[in-house]
Amino acid sequence: MSTDPIDRLLAQNKTWVASATAKDPQFFERLAHGQTPEYLFIGCSDSRVPANALTGTGPGEMFVHRNIANQFHLHDLNSLAVVQYAVDVLDVSSIIVVGHYGCGGVKAANGLHSYGLVDHWLGEIRDLGERYQALLGTGEEERHHRLVELSVLQQVVNLSLCPVLRTAWKKGRRPTLAGLVYDVADGALHKLVSGLSSVEQAQAVMPDPKAKVLPKLFKD
Ligand code: CO
Repeated sequence: MSTDPIDRLLAQNKTWVASATAKDPQFFERLAHGQTPEYLFIGCSDSRVPANALTGTGPGEMFVHRNIANQFHLHDLNSLAVVQYAVDVLDVSSIIVVGHYGCGGVKAANGLHSYGLVDHWLGEIRDLGERYQALLGTGEEERHHRLVELSVLQQVVNLSLCPVLRTAWKKGRRPTLAGLVYDVADGALHKLVSGLSSVEQAQAVMPDPKAKVLPKLFKD
C-alpha cells in the first residue's frame, strides 16, 4: 500500500477517466478542442463549495475562480485577469458570485480574533459588518447569514464597477451579473439577484444602511 496521499487521487482519476469514456467515448476528444463555458463562477475556496458538483455542470461548462470568502476586489490582479479573460475572450453569458453560509472567512471578518494576513483580505467584509451592524439581526446565525448575503451583493457591485464590464456593456455586450448563496447544511443554492447589466442596477440591490429593517434578501 502506498503512503503517498497523492496516489489516492491518481487511482480515482483512472476510475473517472474510464467511467467518463465509457459513457461518452468522444468526451475528452471534444474537450481537447477548447472551451466555451457559459458561466464564470466566483466562489469561496471552502472545500464544501465545489462549483461543478453543486450546479450539476461538467468540464467545459463553467470558468471558475475561487478565493477566501468569494471576494472580487478591483485592486486584485488575479480576479481582474480572470474576469477580463472570461468577458473578452470566452464571452461568458453570466458572472455568478456564490457566497455560502458557514463561511469561515465571513466569520473571521466579523469576529474579534486576528488571523494575520487574511484579515487584510477580509477587510471589506469587516467594513460591511460595521456599516450594517444595526440591521443584521440579533441571533448569531442570523447575523452571519445576512453578512454572507450582503457580501455577495457587495461583490456584485464591485464587479459592475470593473472597467472590463463597463466597456462590454457600453458596446451592448454581455455578460449579466448574478449573486447566489449556497447552504452547506442542505446543499441548496438560493438566488439573491440576477440579470444585472449596469452599475446603477447593481448599486440599487445594495440595501440602505439607514433603513429600519434589512429587506429579506432571498427572492425564492
Ligand atoms: Co467560505
